[in-house]
Amino acid sequence: MSSASAPALATSPTRETCKTKVCWSKDSWRRLPRLQMPEYPDNSSLQAAERQLEQLPPLVFAGEARALQRRLAKATRGQGFVLQGGDCAESFAHYSAESIRDLLKVILEMAVVLTFSATCPVVKIGRVAGQFAKPRSKPSETHDGQEIPIYRGDSINDLAPNATARTPDPQRMIRAYHQSSGTLNLLRAFTQGGFADLRKVHQWTHTFVKESPQYIAYRDIAQRITEAIAFMEACGITSKAVAQVRETDFYTSHEALLLNYEEALTRQDSISGEYYDCSAHLLWLGERTRSPEGAHADFLRGVCNPLGVKCSADARHDELLRLLDLLNPDNHAGRVSLIVRMGADKIDDALPPLLRRLTQEGREILWICDPMHGNTVKAANGYKTRSFQTIMREIETFFAVHRAEGTWPGGIHLEMTGDSVTECIGGARALKEANLADRYHTHCDPRLNAEQALEIGFLVADLLAKHQNNAT
Ligand code: PEP
Ligand code: CO
Repeated sequence: MSSASAPALATSPTRETCKTKVCWSKDSWRRLPRLQMPEYPDNSSLQAAERQLEQLPPLVFAGEARALQRRLAKATRGQGFVLQGGDCAESFAHYSAESIRDLLKVILEMAVVLTFSATCPVVKIGRVAGQFAKPRSKPSETHDGQEIPIYRGDSINDLAPNATARTPDPQRMIRAYHQSSGTLNLLRAFTQGGFADLRKVHQWTHTFVKESPQYIAYRDIAQRITEAIAFMEACGITSKAVAQVRETDFYTSHEALLLNYEEALTRQDSISGEYYDCSAHLLWLGERTRSPEGAHADFLRGVCNPLGVKCSADARHDELLRLLDLLNPDNHAGRVSLIVRMGADKIDDALPPLLRRLTQEGREILWICDPMHGNTVKAANGYKTRSFQTIMREIETFFAVHRAEGTWPGGIHLEMTGDSVTECIGGARALKEANLADRYHTHCDPRLNAEQALEIGFLVADLLAKHQNNAT
């Protein structure tokens, strides 16, 4: 039997006996019930791939994860706003320098708009360089009358609809690692090697959207920033002297779903002695795998990276509190971000009581709005899509609830790309269902294209500026 499908042992420690890290090890998750993990047909090749991954260098460093947690702690207290975005699922097929650069460009543009309009530091986090494993609502699907395993993301199996392609292959974890490493290398070069220099703010625009209203508005902001920098330089504050002008911090994140991969990249930090999952700076628990009794929560409680927890309108408050006890027993600010994905029709009812309960309990939470995952619909032509209008409605309600409760709307989490895909309907160009077939490339959920994402950036900047004005 593969180790991935081993049942929970009768002797597994219960939560009561295991509240601290005393009985945590990077493989203690293996004794607990697991959901959404693949069944590998061959245990020895799985173990060989795990050993191979363990020998490979870490992708991120503990010090970087700590720096992110400090920034998230500030954002928890209202001194910062998180912009987290990227593909629903990265893929081996769409791996190119252009698409990495274009995603970074649109995130940098949105961050500039938010920082400039709302005068608020923006913490930029990509869903990138590791976002390869997907939770699914069904384990299998029928294709040409044959039942085949469901696609679970490129680090697990292949999208092609046949039984061979869909068989989980542990070597795909190695390929995902190398792709993540190449992606991260390019992101580091772009963000620290001059591309993200604020003096280049004009050059981040995408060629295919230059004449849209968002880009005209963006060019205006870029012009004002350029003038401000020229003024600063005339005063002797040059980008040579000030790293914040020349470089930018960019962090990576993904769902910690495929625990074999996450365990193999977990390393003990030589400075603090603590364990960090060095596959990304921030890891999150998905809506389907966040049970406090499950393997995923057990794994994440022991690593010191900042964490996200996805949370739908159905989340039970007591269960969430137990999860927070487990993940953040000392209630450190910046350790846990709750990424609420309730849906535009439900957030109004579900968010206020949750917010009140956790505030009353004194929990340090950074609240992030994911307006994508509660708003997925099937178009009449069969495509999975999301409407720009509904996405904005959820974000607006998120801000309104925080305004009413006197709490800080700490960030947004988007599925988006720098490419000109046609996967979500609406936006300034009023994309219709009939356009979906034009460039529908996602391997999983529909993403905002660069133009739609920048439009969201402008609208959120307005909401954030208003929120700050009302609060002062
Ligand atoms: C996702 O972020 O792609 C995802 C599957 O989210 P959730 O766990 O919120 O459904
Ligand atoms: Co998704």
